[in-house]
Amino acid sequence: MNSVYLHWFISFALFYGVSSGDPGTDNLLDSEVCFADGFAFGVATASYQIEGAWNVSGKSESIWDRYTHEHPERIFDHNTGDVACGSYYKVKEDVQLMTQLGLSFYRFSMSWPRILPNGLSNYVNEDGIRYYKELLAELRRNHITPVVTMYHWDLPQCLQDLGGWTNPIMAEYFADYARVLLDNFGEQVKIWITFNEPVSFCEGGYGGEDAPGGKSSGFEDYMCGHNVLRAHGMVYRMFDQEYRKKYGGHMGITISFSWLEPATTSLEDRKAAETARQFNFGWFANPIFSKTGDYPPIMRTVIDTNSKRQGFPRSRLPYFTPQEVKMMRGAYDFLGLNHYTTYLVQQGTRKIRNQPSYEDDVNVKIHQKDDWPKTNSSWLRVVPWGFRKALNYVRLNYRNPKVLVTENGVSFEPGLRDTKRVNYIDAYLRSLHAAVYKDGCTVIGYTYWSLMDNFEWTRGFSERFGLYEVDYSSPNLTRTPRLSAKYFTNVAKTGCLPNNFADYTYSRD
Ligand code: NOJ
Repeated sequence: MNSVYLHWFISFALFYGVSSGDPGTDNLLDSEVCFADGFAFGVATASYQIEGAWNVSGKSESIWDRYTHEHPERIFDHNTGDVACGSYYKVKEDVQLMTQLGLSFYRFSMSWPRILPNGLSNYVNEDGIRYYKELLAELRRNHITPVVTMYHWDLPQCLQDLGGWTNPIMAEYFADYARVLLDNFGEQVKIWITFNEPVSFCEGGYGGEDAPGGKSSGFEDYMCGHNVLRAHGMVYRMFDQEYRKKYGGHMGITISFSWLEPATTSLEDRKAAETARQFNFGWFANPIFSKTGDYPPIMRTVIDTNSKRQGFPRSRLPYFTPQEVKMMRGAYDFLGLNHYTTYLVQQGTRKIRNQPSYEDDVNVKIHQKDDWPKTNSSWLRVVPWGFRKALNYVRLNYRNPKVLVTENGVSFEPGLRDTKRVNYIDAYLRSLHAAVYKDGCTVIGYTYWSLMDNFEWTRGFSERFGLYEVDYSSPNLTRTPRLSAKYFTNVAKTGCLPNNFADYTYSRD
């Protein structure tokens, strides 16, 4: 598809859906499989993971700057994102990579501390605005539609000093920041994502190993989630009421959904899998995408009961006001879905301890099968069928919303002949194809994570997800296309998955 039409197609798809086009052939394994016209292909990155220039041109410190500088021991290879892929200085070069891939869209995030060094909107850093304007202009020149994430984990440190996402005022501050983005970029950006993977940065950041490094699972993670949901609702309503008529456009949120399959067919394991889905995906999906709104009933009941048993005078999961429930319910034009892998779930055996935790509340055991192919990330095994199940779960439980797959990808060892990555993408795309054209899921596009190798959070540079390999030891941070780049170019340009893999030395074993 000619990428010049992509924005129009995405708009069209968002309003009318694209699942009913000519899907090509039905036989998914042996023949050519095509996506309908209008199905878009893109790649994703995030500011902290690629930009570098951490203290340049007025940018202030983010929680990831602070965390990597003060706790190198918590980063696998003791690295930081200070330089990362140097994308701050490589606007033209990076957009060229996308052009070579023949992509319709590029999903990237804007850095809050680069735009508002104080975290607050009383001072806007013009150099930050200039940088993103330059990137947007370059994308436009190359007919690539921008898909912009407002928050991909790099909170200004000065706001973390006020408690970060555990502080209810953050919802207002986020709305102020969002207003600055909409005022400055609303004309060029028509597809907005408020947050990327809130479970990851709330659970990981306030109860786990990620920045800012809070160790308050079962407490601050829920506070974070509560304020992020309120912030999303506020920004969506603001966009809807004030900006849509001015600029048009669409807004959603990206939620990660690993498929959670019962380990056995027993009633206990089936219940455990559903509980796990509700605590994971439902935590953020239910308040926004369900008919009733609010937290999933199972989360409400379990956390209220556990809190009481632990002697707390109130639930560790805060309550929304009826107005807030209403504000969040239906606050989307599309769902951004990140999907990488699948887990098997069994009933847990945890006791309610005085020291609460998210894990104790969920109370399930999860694992992956030994014979599922491994990757270079310990949490990620190759399980393509889970993608179709996850998409169908969304279709059946959340009234078949329009879904943009905002991330799917895999890490493997360095090297250009990445046939395993080709294999992964191809298998996951076949699963996605079946979900759309056999089952009726409304998916409007697919985003590969990531355009190039980048800073993989606490794993540093040790896990590589890129279609382009980045040579971190070269002064230029040279990007070189892998075999998977060639494969993905073919897919993006033709809209079809090839049935002849000779070019990719593909093996189905
Ligand atoms: C999820 C995150 O959004 C992204 O930042 C990360 O690099 C990928 N998944 C791979 O782990």
